Amino acid sequence: MDLGLKDKVALVTGAGSQTGFGKGIALTLAQEGCDVVIIDKDVDGAKKTAGEIEALGRKSLAFEVDVTNSSQVNDAVKAALEKFGRIDILVNNAGAATPPKPFIEKTEAEWDPDIEINLKSVLICTKAVLPQMLERKNGKIINISSDVIKVRSDLHILHYVCSKGAVFTMTQALARSLGPSHINVNAIAPGLTATEATLGTVEEGIEVFNEEVWNATISAQSIHRRGEPDDMAGTAVYLASEDSDFVTGQIIYVNAGLIGIGFAGAVTGANTLASDASPKPILGSIMGGLNTMQPIGVLFFLQVGGYLFDKVGYWGPFALKGIADVICGLWILSVRKRLTAPAQEEKTLTTVGN
Ligand SMILES: NC(=O)c1ccc[n+]([C@@H]2O[C@H](COP(=O)([O-])OP(=O)(O)OC[C@H]3O[C@@H](n4cnc5c(N)ncnc54)[C@H](O)[C@@H]3O)[C@@H](O)[C@H]2O)c1
Repeated sequence: MDLGLKDKVALVTGAGSQTGFGKGIALTLAQEGCDVVIIDKDVDGAKKTAGEIEALGRKSLAFEVDVTNSSQVNDAVKAALEKFGRIDILVNNAGAATPPKPFIEKTEAEWDPDIEINLKSVLICTKAVLPQMLERKNGKIINISSDVIKVRSDLHILHYVCSKGAVFTMTQALARSLGPSHINVNAIAPGLTATEATLGTVEEGIEVFNEEVWNATISAQSIHRRGEPDDMAGTAVYLASEDSDFVTGQIIYVNAGLIGIGFAGAVTGANTLASDASPKPILGSIMGGLNTMQPIGVLFFLQVGGYLFDKVGYWGPFALKGIADVICGLWILSVRKRLTAPAQEEKTLTTVGN
């Protein structure tokens, strides 16, 4: 199938990581016929990716760039335009999360990088690439957000969540403004995936994305396997292609279906407990699930309990409901207690700050 990508020029940020989304996206675009410009602060990684693109028979350039620095980005874009004449596709992929810590404990200096690398960088790179797209009235911009904005957010990674949420609102605002110029702007929200950012991340000697976090995530997904870096490439290439010409302002969750309605409580429970260093994600799932079922439970117990009490004077269902409420209440109290615990007590943080 011809995706209309032959001889297009793409710029992918953060494609230096050899186990990240950016490299998978860059190589897949090259396989579809694109020349690809890589910008990354990791210049060795960027050059390695560029070499693999050239081995596929396409042209590539690699630049050492900090994407939070507008003059470095502008210089690289200028050099890329001098070589290729245009940039048709921009993939704003570079990003990172600061170590998880309760919102009230985290200092401004500690959370500034979340905003800088995940939000400011997208504004800088988009601004640098946009003028020539506007001139040609053609372009595709793909922003990498995160599914934390919907399914995994918690107070330990609040700044990362805010930055990725802003990437989505920016995507919608840009899409609305740039639609008349035939520039499509969309976002991808990956789920927790095994990349450099997650694998082997150790904080204070503790593996952040440990087996329990992976297991809790995989079991909450609709597709029960771990996300791998190449899982984003197909969606990115689709959004870069002519096939998506009528698609703009959208966010696509590429997270193995971690979306379930009614299951959200289980997911939240598992993640809240996981992020609270609890070794009991299964308990979290059960309690989260019970919590989600509360409104249905209330209706059920009122109906059945009311009927039995009315007819035979039996009050068992009301007692059961009371016990369930007490257990749920105690669980919520314990989670709240952990969420507000001082940072130094968090020796085993396992939150999903992807
Ligand atoms: N891995 C996940 O589970 C996951 C989930 C949701 C969203 N994301 C997002 O996907 C994107 C890619 O993440 P990844 O998991 O492939 O991470 P990764 O660490 O493998 O790759 C990130 C790349 O960005 C580069 N980078 C970081 N800061 C930079 C800077 N200031 N200037 C230039 N380059 C910089 C790094 O050098 C690296 O090559 C990020 O935006 C991340 O927030 C990742």
